[in-house]
Amino acid sequence: MSTARGEFSSRFGFLMAATGSAVGLGNIWGFPTNAASNGGGAFLFTYLILAFLLAYPALMAELIIGRHAQANAVNALRGLSDNKVTARVGAGVGFAGMITVTLILSFYAIVSGWMLSFMFAAVADIARLDSLSDWLIQSGTARDLIFTLMFYLLTIYVVVAGVRNGIEKWASRLMPSLYFILLALIIYVMTLDGAMEGLRMYLVPDFSRVADPELILGAMGQAFFSLSLGVGTMLIYGSYVSKKENLPMIGGMVTLMDISVAVLAGLLILPAMTVAALNGIEIYDAEGGLIAGPALIISVLPALFDRMGDAGLIVGLAFFMLMSIASLTSSISMLEVPVSYIVEEHKVSRRKAGLVLGLVTAVISVIIVLNFGLLFDWVVRLTTEFSQPLLGFFFAIFAGWIWNRNSLLAEIRQGNPEAQSGLFWRIWPWYIKFVCPVIILAVYVQMIF
Ligand code: PFF
Repeated sequence: MSTARGEFSSRFGFLMAATGSAVGLGNIWGFPTNAASNGGGAFLFTYLILAFLLAYPALMAELIIGRHAQANAVNALRGLSDNKVTARVGAGVGFAGMITVTLILSFYAIVSGWMLSFMFAAVADIARLDSLSDWLIQSGTARDLIFTLMFYLLTIYVVVAGVRNGIEKWASRLMPSLYFILLALIIYVMTLDGAMEGLRMYLVPDFSRVADPELILGAMGQAFFSLSLGVGTMLIYGSYVSKKENLPMIGGMVTLMDISVAVLAGLLILPAMTVAALNGIEIYDAEGGLIAGPALIISVLPALFDRMGDAGLIVGLAFFMLMSIASLTSSISMLEVPVSYIVEEHKVSRRKAGLVLGLVTAVISVIIVLNFGLLFDWVVRLTTEFSQPLLGFFFAIFAGWIWNRNSLLAEIRQGNPEAQSGLFWRIWPWYIKFVCPVIILAVYVQMIF
């Protein structure tokens, strides 16, 4: 098959790229803190159910549509039916996804910029450059702008290099390092006094919370954000997968790897917090809840690393490297959505598209940095709580109702001639048609009211 529009060179390349997109700040930061503030094991339990029963089927809708259409989200959804109205709605959903993912990148890059500045601060600490390190960890507009822009340059650099030479190459280098650093950190933190208390907080379920709508809402949002759903990222990665691959199987592997990093991150963050508490660091906020927002990553954990002495220098560096890697492999998948559209639709070079779109998104980030209190939380909520689930609903509708069923089944059979005797074949088509839209809509309605 022609590689003119880019194709991953191997299954491993796809797995690293798609897992790289999925595994991000949402797993390492969002999941553990959500779990800690929502009944520990009860959240974990609900999350696991929703991830398999809702997020995996929704991920498959994007991957299957993408590989079938061999196009960006706008053209892919537009082309699923001959009907003019649904074609227009499809293109509209594709566009809405593109705007949503651009806004997600605009706030994600700011937080990722913090991760970079803390990583450099750890290097400065090791080199005993104390005043530089102090500047790097102190929040300030100049620092935020510099590191946000630096993060954009890295993202643009990878995306401009192309699907194989950029996205696949870097994801394949960075993701194994991410797993390695994460495991090493967990093992180290587990040896510290106070870690078991965090482990208990994380794993012992408070089952009285399982039916709590707040908890279900949080777990659902977390699952959607974590698998990068609704915004066309997975659709475009699906479009770069070879027709020889068995999609339901490799989609399942991406889901499993994403979930496993979230669950593992819980084994790091919560024990680290209780170790911090034992060392006299405040881990509860004024309302008595566990500190979960930015303060957790940029003040509680750094304070802990500080008290660990020389070991803390290395642990701090490893931790912020982990966060920076997780951010970068996600941000490249975000920028790829509008870039692939502009390249395919307007025949602009990848280089130009990446540069211009990256810089336009960077301008939005600058506006957010300059009006942080006003805009940051609002953009996060608008995109992740409102827009992503709604778009996920439309993706399910397009896969289940608008797309011709024979064509959908033919796509599932690609790369897996025995598909018809499998469970996926029997369950998924009606599941995406009825069950997914109903669950998403129910949670979405709950979110509004
Ligand atoms: N899945 C990423 C995370 O968990 O941090 C976030 C993300 C990546 C959202 C890509 C949306 C996206 F298109």
